[in-house]
Amino acid sequence: MTSLSATTDPPATVTADALVVASAPDAAGPDGGTAVLVDGHGLPAEAAAHIGSALRAVRASGKADEVVKLPGVGGLRAPLVVVAGLGALERGTTAYRPETLRRAAGAAVRELAGLGTVALAFPMAAEQDLAAIAEGALLGAYRFAGLHRSRRDAAEPSRSAPVAAVQVLVATGGEQPDAVVRRASALATAHEWARDLVNTPPNLLYPESFAQAVVDRAQGTPVEVTVLDELALAEGGFGGTVGVGRGSHRPPRLVTVTYAPEGARATLALVGKGITFDSGGLDIKPAAGMLTMKCDMAGAAAVAATVLAAAELDLPVAVTGYLCMAENMPGGGAQRPSDVVTMRGGTTVEILDTDAEGRMVLADGIALASEQSPDAIVDIATLTGHQVTALGTRIGAVMAGQDRFRDRVRDAADACGEPFWPMPLPRELRTQLDSPVADLAHKGERMAGMLTAGLFLQEFVGDLPDGAGPIPWAHLDIAGPAWNDSGAHGYTPKGGTGFGIRTMLTLAESYATS
Ligand code: BES
Ligand code: MN
Ligand code: ZN
Repeated sequence: MTSLSATTDPPATVTADALVVASAPDAAGPDGGTAVLVDGHGLPAEAAAHIGSALRAVRASGKADEVVKLPGVGGLRAPLVVVAGLGALERGTTAYRPETLRRAAGAAVRELAGLGTVALAFPMAAEQDLAAIAEGALLGAYRFAGLHRSRRDAAEPSRSAPVAAVQVLVATGGEQPDAVVRRASALATAHEWARDLVNTPPNLLYPESFAQAVVDRAQGTPVEVTVLDELALAEGGFGGTVGVGRGSHRPPRLVTVTYAPEGARATLALVGKGITFDSGGLDIKPAAGMLTMKCDMAGAAAVAATVLAAAELDLPVAVTGYLCMAENMPGGGAQRPSDVVTMRGGTTVEILDTDAEGRMVLADGIALASEQSPDAIVDIATLTGHQVTALGTRIGAVMAGQDRFRDRVRDAADACGEPFWPMPLPRELRTQLDSPVADLAHKGERMAGMLTAGLFLQEFVGDLPDGAGPIPWAHLDIAGPAWNDSGAHGYTPKGGTGFGIRTMLTLAESYATS
């Protein structure tokens, strides 16, 4: 993986294969203006002048996601200067938001695959900026190795290998960067692993192999992994999971990933949807809708990666992940619409549409998590197409049992730069989940399907001890942002994104201090 360091070297003498600097549009003309250099580190005047005129000559715009490469700039030791557009300052502000810097750093480093060392000399106004630049650079460096024969057999590292090392230029006497470097590296490791898992084809990643990958990854860390196989799931009464798994030759798994440091200040449970492929089951999906459904385990991948990152960072908070794994297929043993299954905890559910499988595995996971009485539960899932319709592919949805807890999750999301938007859980829609033959119907009407999915999950959240009400719970629907089907942008690659990891880790960190 790409290594990270902070350096107080000045931009003129830093030794790197490329030096990344920032640009922005000047006063908006009819075409939105031309790019001007935004120097935060005192480039030599000669180099700054050269870059400025080169940006005019190539008619650079300075817009976000623009990356201009300029070789041989005099007065600098780096042989290549890369100018990353920041876009215009937001109206009424005088400094760039950390997320703007994060994206520009990612866009630049993504374009520099194959290089050894890349140094970034970005403007830094606020304390969070160093972290943002470091995270963006590392997340943007990611590449899925893929399964190409030519790359596998090649003796040399390919031109598309991720940048080997990132250096972020910092001013002398600034904040101690060690902790920032450590956290950004842990986040990058987490994203790389989660993205690789999501990008792995579903003939290679199925419940058993996914579970094994988690076991292998946790070796040598303080994280403990237990795997419930299909027999244990049947014996344990996990009827939702068993039912979804019936249509596949590959049996389901429920994997518990526990990080429990001594003296932990709180216990957080994270429950992830781990459908390794969602064909829809007997209610089979149309071809176009099935094509990306290897991403349906992105929630579980994000949870596993978050728990390992919490351990890597020695957080004084216990975090337990529940990875709800199954393959949703229409085989001869598949469950039928109108089947009734008994969930963990005894609730009976009438299956109405076998394509609403995520809530069935998650409900078992939430019920199991509740048995441990954690201080809070967060589930994360590529749960509904309605989420994509409502918020698109860059914003996740957050629903919660209590507004206060939802705000806490949103605060974490805001702090780390992941967009999550609040959605309601209207009690009056709950009657849509009444069933004539079971305790619950497993879906409601088509309209507001994201919300009734959330209401369904809420039924499985347990109570706090001593009659203190329900366990604080939030549901993150990431059906849109878990997978990027269009071009790479900012620090977000095509394919699996790792969306949700930052918010969950930041939330876990918030329990370290309160
Ligand atoms: N995995 C899908 C949701 C999904 C859709 C994820 C698009 C990512 C992109 C989920 O299992 C599903 O099929 N949901 C159904 C639920 C419906 C049958 C109630 C949906 O959204 O149509
Ligand atoms: Mn489905
Ligand atoms: Zn699904």
